[in-house]
Amino acid sequence: MGEINAAVTVKNLVKKYGDFQALKGIDFDVAKGEIFTFLGPNGAGKTTTVKILTGILKPTSGFAQILGLDAVKNIGEIKKEIGLVPDQPYVYPYLTAFEYMRIVGDIYGVPIEKQKLKIPELFEMFDLKDRSGEIVDSFSHGMKQKLVISSVLLHEPKIMFLDEPLVGLDPKSARLVKDLFKKLSENGVTIFMCTHVLEIAQKLASRICIVNEGKILALNSFDNLKKTVSEDADLEAVYLKLTENDGKERS
Ligand SMILES: Nc1ncnc2c1ncn2[C@@H]1O[C@H](COP(=O)(O)OP(=O)(O)OP(=O)(O)O)[C@@H](O)[C@H]1O
Ligand SMILES: [Mg+2]
Repeated sequence: MGEINAAVTVKNLVKKYGDFQALKGIDFDVAKGEIFTFLGPNGAGKTTTVKILTGILKPTSGFAQILGLDAVKNIGEIKKEIGLVPDQPYVYPYLTAFEYMRIVGDIYGVPIEKQKLKIPELFEMFDLKDRSGEIVDSFSHGMKQKLVISSVLLHEPKIMFLDEPLVGLDPKSARLVKDLFKKLSENGVTIFMCTHVLEIAQKLASRICIVNEGKILALNSFDNLKKTVSEDADLEAVYLKLTENDGKERS
């Protein structure tokens, strides 16, 4: 098999919840090592897309490939290569933070010696060191979020899917995560992120995909997107223009 350059390929992806069409046939590719950000109003279909790409939901029609593998048929194989930080940081409540990391490490087959090195490093980095022996149930939202991000970093996935990873993070942690994304992408890791934080998308993303009501409105680099508004436009201006015009065209 030749080298596959796409981390993610989506073709005519449709997702219905009952009669409601949450995704109306979307197409895009994400190259390896990209920081790809998914933006759009509440209910646009971002989380639905992430759930399909990570095997939580099955598409109604169309297809999605991850690293050249079919996201429905080969999901077992795919799961070993990807990491997910979901919109709600779910962690088994009655484990300590350290136990949680060990379990994730074992599930992904991270050698014990490596776990012993990396877990303290990650706790140090995310300011969780002093709390690592505590039951996760007692953690704040931001602490749980940092634990989930740490656990994904522990197993070094080829693609990281992050659904609003910065929600609840303090400014120092948010800075840390932003710097991490940059470093990971430089090392060839693909970052697929949904966010409402336009400043982050504008500064970090290699390409920005704007979705609304289950359809893609635009997909391009920030530099190319802003040309559709003006040379000195920021992403907010581009986003508002695109999403507002979309509503008008239909009515
Ligand atoms: N389990 C479900 N059953 C029925 N409808 C659903 C379900 N999950 C999502 N939807 C609907 O699908 C649409 C897309 O939802 P989704 O969660 O993908 O949006 P989103 O872009 O992630 O929004 P947000 O920015 O608020 O996180 C919404 O209209 C939502 O109500
Ligand atoms: Mg969502």
